[in-house]
Amino acid sequence: MNSDHDTIAIVDNGGQFTHLISTLIRNGLNVRTEIVDPLTPPEELRYVKGLILSGGPDSIHEEGSLQIEPGILEMEVPVLGLCYGLHEITAHYSGEVDTSDLKEYGYAALHIQCSDPILDGIPDGDRVWMSHGDKVGVIPEGFRRVASTKNCPVAVMSDPERKRWGFQFHPEVEDTTHGLQMLRNFVIGICGCRADWTTENNIDDILSIIRSEVGGRKVLALLSGGVDSTVVAALLNRALPEERTRFIHVDTGLMRLGESGSVAEALASVGVTDLEVVDAAGLYLEALDGVCDPEEKRMIIGRLFVDIINRAAKEAREEDWVLAQGTLYPDTIESGGTKNADVIKTHHNRVDIIMQMIEEKRVIEPVKELYKAEVREVGEMLGLPPHMVHRHPFPGPGLGIRALCQDQWLIQNTLGEIPPIQKAVDEWIEGDDWAKGTMKGLVLPVRSVGVKGDCRSYEHPVAVWTEDRTDWGPIKGFATRMVNGIRGINRCLLMMGLNDVDMPSPLERYITEWRMDLLREADQIVMSGLSEHGVYDSVWQCPTVLVPVSFSGGEMCVIRPVWSRRAMTAEVAELPDPFFEDVVPKLLSLNGIDSVAVDVTSKPPGTIEWE
Ligand code: XMP
Repeated sequence: MNSDHDTIAIVDNGGQFTHLISTLIRNGLNVRTEIVDPLTPPEELRYVKGLILSGGPDSIHEEGSLQIEPGILEMEVPVLGLCYGLHEITAHYSGEVDTSDLKEYGYAALHIQCSDPILDGIPDGDRVWMSHGDKVGVIPEGFRRVASTKNCPVAVMSDPERKRWGFQFHPEVEDTTHGLQMLRNFVIGICGCRADWTTENNIDDILSIIRSEVGGRKVLALLSGGVDSTVVAALLNRALPEERTRFIHVDTGLMRLGESGSVAEALASVGVTDLEVVDAAGLYLEALDGVCDPEEKRMIIGRLFVDIINRAAKEAREEDWVLAQGTLYPDTIESGGTKNADVIKTHHNRVDIIMQMIEEKRVIEPVKELYKAEVREVGEMLGLPPHMVHRHPFPGPGLGIRALCQDQWLIQNTLGEIPPIQKAVDEWIEGDDWAKGTMKGLVLPVRSVGVKGDCRSYEHPVAVWTEDRTDWGPIKGFATRMVNGIRGINRCLLMMGLNDVDMPSPLERYITEWRMDLLREADQIVMSGLSEHGVYDSVWQCPTVLVPVSFSGGEMCVIRPVWSRRAMTAEVAELPDPFFEDVVPKLLSLNGIDSVAVDVTSKPPGTIEWE
C-alpha cells in the first residue's frame, strides 16, 4: 500500500520470523514496513525504498518450492535476502545452492572477509544465529563473499553495484548479537529510509486517513471493550465531530463478567460519553443454538454483528455510513492476507459480509497497519488508563469460542477414533524416559483446533497425570514431543487435583445461557487469581475454556496461560503453585465443573484459543 512514509517491503517466504523482521524495523528503527506476497507484481511495489526477502521452510530445489516473482529480484532498489531469501538471490543470478540433509541450528561466530557497508560497526567474530539446511555453494558472478562461519563458507555475500545483499543467518532474532545494527545498516544506511514511523506521527497519519476515508459519511463503531476497539473509538472521537460518530457496544451474552460496565468506563476516559448498549444476548443464543463447528460459530457471530449494526443504521436513517473496526495488522495476514498463510481461523472481522463491505469501501480499520504493541503505545498517548492499555487480548467472538460444543454425531465419530490414538499415547509414554512409570495419559473424547505444519488441525487433547509437578520444564518438553509425535492429537493437558481416573464421558453441549454464566464465573476466578497472585502482567493471555467431557457429572475447565509477542506463536506461561492452590478449589466448587486442567501445549502445535 502506497504511503508517505519510506517503506521497506518484507517479502514473505513463509518463514516463522517474518513478523519479527517487521516489528524490529518498526520499533527499533522507526521505519515503516509492509509484508508482501512473493508473487506481488513489481509495479505494485514501486514506492518501496528497499526489499527484504524473508526466510522460509522450503528448499529451493524441491519440486513445488515457493517461487518469487522474478521481476521483484530485478527491481532497482536494494534487496537483502535472509536464509531462503539468500538462496533466491543466488539462484536468480545463476549461482549454486547446495542442498543438505544436515541442518545447522544455533550460534556461530561470523568471520569478516572484506569490508562492506552491511557490516558497518560489526566486530569480527560476532555471534550470529543459524537455522538452515541449504547453503550457497557457488557465489553468483559479480557477487563477493563478505563473511563466513565455521560451517558456512558464504554467511554473507553482496554485490554493492547491483545493490544486492544476502545473509545465511537470521539478524532478526535476539540471539544474533548485532542483528539490529545489521538491519540498520541496510534500512537506514543503504536504503536511506527516514526514521519517521513514530507513535506521534502514526496518530497524525491515522487521524487524517480517517477524515479522508470517511469523507462526508457517518461512522458506526462497535466496541468490544478490548484495547483495539477502544483505541479506535478514541481516534474517531479526535478525528471527527461528535455528530458524525456513533459508538455501540453489543452485549452478545458472550462477554465477560461486568464487561459492559468497563467498556463505558474506558470510553469515558477518552471523552466518549454517548455509548449505546444493545442487548443482543437472546439473539446470539438463538443463532448459536445447536451449532458445534468453531468456524460456523465465528461466521454466525460476525454476521450478527453486521445485522445489528445494519439495523441500528436503518433505525437512525443513516444510509450513508461506514463501519469502523479495530483490526490489527497480523489479523489481516493470519486469515490468508498473504497467500502463504493457511487459514487457521477466520477472524470474525474478516467474515464474508465484512469482506464484501471492505470491497464497497464501507469499512474503515484505523489501526490495521499496527501491531498490538503499537496500538498500546497509541492508547497510552491518547490517555487511556494503564489497566485498560495492558489488558490481555480478548477475541471478538468472546466466550462463544471458549465453550466447546458437540452433538451426538460428533460424539459418535469421536469415540470411534479414540482407541488407536490411545494405544499410540500409551506406547509413547512407555517409550519416553522421562514419563515412563510416572505418567498416565488419556485421549479425551472431544476435539479442538490447533495448527500443525502451518495448517489447521481439529484433533484430540490428551490429559496427563504426573506425580512430578515441581518443575514445568520437563512437562512442557514432554508435551511438545508427544503432540508432535502422535497423529490425531494436538494438545496436552496437565490435570490438577484428580488422580488416576477412568476415561471421561463425552457430553452433548451447545452454547446456552447457563453455560455462558458458568464460564463467566470460571473466567472471573482465573482472572482475579492472576491479579491477586501478581502474575497478570507476566502472562500475555489466559483463556479459560469449558470442555464437554465429564468425570463425575460436571464438565472440564481448562486454564490456558500463554506468553506470546504477536500471537503467531506462543509458549506456555508458568504459573506459581499458590495460584493453583487457590484457584483450582474455587473452580471445582462451581456447580457444573468437575475437573480442572492446565493446557501445557505451545503454539504450534496448539493454538491459543481452543476453537
Ligand atoms: P489463536 O487461537 O489463533 O489466537 O492462537 C491468536 C490470537 O487471536 C485471538 N483470536 C481472535 N480474535 N477474533 C478476534 O478478534 C477471533 O475470531 C479470534 N480468534 C482468536 C486469540 O484470542 C489470540 O489472542
